[in-house]
Amino acid sequence: MKKYFVITFLLFTKISLAQSPLPIPPLLSGTNFNLTIQNGVTQFYPGINTPTYGINGNLLAPTLLFKKGDVVTLNVTNTLTGNGNATTIHWHGLHVPASADGGPHQLINQGTTWQPSFKVLNNAATFWYHPHGMNKTDLHVAKGIAGLIIVKDTIESKINLPRTYGVDDFPIIIQTKDFDILHQIAISTQTDTAHMVNGVVNPYLDAPSQVIRLRLLNGSSGRTFMLGFSNNMNFHLIATDGGLLDSSQSMNRIQLSNGERAEILVDFSMFSGGNIYLKNFGSELAHGIQGADSVGDNSINFIPDYYTNPLNGSDYDLLKINFTAPTSSPVITIPAALTPLSVIPISSATFNRNFVFDTITEMGNVPNFAAGPFAINQKLFEMDSINETVYLNTTETWTLINRTMVAHPFHIHDVEFLIVDINGKLPPAYEKGWKDVVLVMPGDTIRFITKFEDFADDHIPYMYHCHVLHHEDDGMMGSFIVIDTTKNGVHELTRNTDGISIYPNPCNDELRITMDELRWKNSKLEVIDLLGHVLVMKEVFEIKNSSINIHNLSNGIYFLKITSNNNIITKKFEKE
Ligand code: C2O
Ligand code: CU
Ligand code: CU
Repeated sequence: MKKYFVITFLLFTKISLAQSPLPIPPLLSGTNFNLTIQNGVTQFYPGINTPTYGINGNLLAPTLLFKKGDVVTLNVTNTLTGNGNATTIHWHGLHVPASADGGPHQLINQGTTWQPSFKVLNNAATFWYHPHGMNKTDLHVAKGIAGLIIVKDTIESKINLPRTYGVDDFPIIIQTKDFDILHQIAISTQTDTAHMVNGVVNPYLDAPSQVIRLRLLNGSSGRTFMLGFSNNMNFHLIATDGGLLDSSQSMNRIQLSNGERAEILVDFSMFSGGNIYLKNFGSELAHGIQGADSVGDNSINFIPDYYTNPLNGSDYDLLKINFTAPTSSPVITIPAALTPLSVIPISSATFNRNFVFDTITEMGNVPNFAAGPFAINQKLFEMDSINETVYLNTTETWTLINRTMVAHPFHIHDVEFLIVDINGKLPPAYEKGWKDVVLVMPGDTIRFITKFEDFADDHIPYMYHCHVLHHEDDGMMGSFIVIDTTKNGVHELTRNTDGISIYPNPCNDELRITMDELRWKNSKLEVIDLLGHVLVMKEVFEIKNSSINIHNLSNGIYFLKITSNNNIITKKFEKE
């Protein structure tokens, strides 16, 4: 392991002498997008070929430009070769139907095309897209599949902001990678010693001396960045994951965890020639964050190989910025006010769910491990179970409680959220906007509020998970379905009590039963009338999404009795 580290490190330092122009991914616009996932070859180091994956190219993917209100169709073809390379493409941050979300359930088999179509409902912001296959996310993202999505709308377009792609508005995808001795991309390691922007090691950008906009994405598998400039100049945060803040925030550092985006304006108008660097200030990351000088403690709670990686806890240049002449009509001011934030009053939340991050080992639950595997509410991800059932058009708070020794960037699909409080305190101004990822520090409790609107599907779930990709792949992920109670008439709130929901209720043909967890194995389902007669009986191995036919029953009140090895529960329903 040691030897292997030395080789990759030498390679990395040697190569960092040469500089390449920052590639700007091609911009695709319109309403119909053809995306071909393909094998490729990339030279991260001169003369050394590394097999990679990309979309419409060798590495990374085109930037997709969407207009809010448009109906877009994406034709996603998987041409990957090699065994077991079915994948998915997820539109990270976009509010789309569960069937179009591209989570682990919308598998794109090799040689096939997936064609989701949806209306763009999000506000102007920077989103991204990446694979999300069960246990395959890290492999497919690290090998190169990731691209940005820029949504435009009429509110953002009225503000005087740089918005000419590749001229004064730049995509900045920051990643680290690990290469093994054969120069193949390695995953689930801690020796990601190569850092790159837009897929290039040691890049430079020629930028006009005026106000420019950087759309920053942390597309790394596991590393958090503390970004700033080499001259410590201030920049202005204008947008977080879900869109514009109400006012621009002047700061000289922005922390970006996996999956997070930030749009910043930087005023370079005082420079004529010369250069500065966009840097990672890893030495300023707090203990417990992957990328900081230390995670865990000095006893058994450490991450193997963590301390052999020279990037952890250190400051290094990510991107050289050379100043060139301004464009003909540059943006020269930084707007203070942007657009008022719509807020969700806390009083409108009708339900809270807790999500506790813990370590799971053979010894059972050991709260303080640093290396994982990690679980949410004691459960590892299961493809076929639904962890949470949410009702359409309800506002909820979700409380994230990190009992592990490492920070986890928590991400939810379907919705954007607002942070209510962090350890009981209001979030800082730069975290007051709409987000879909939040980094939960060891020991912290973060509460957010969101409303589940527009899309319901009673069997296709959305995901929530840690965006450290190997944590996600190792099971630090759960699923939720959003049920429209006006359509299927769920009258009874059974959430988080026994884990079982029955619907529709009243019902006329088929009573559906879903459960939130795996407690109900080898269950017997019985429909019993008011006199105690068993009318229908069915044995199921697991109640995940079961149903029972009640077509032949006459109208009236019945009970569904569910018996498993250690639980019995009875629920009332009406046949009509
Ligand atoms: Cu960026 Cu569920 O992912
Ligand atoms: Cu997502
Ligand atoms: Cu994690």
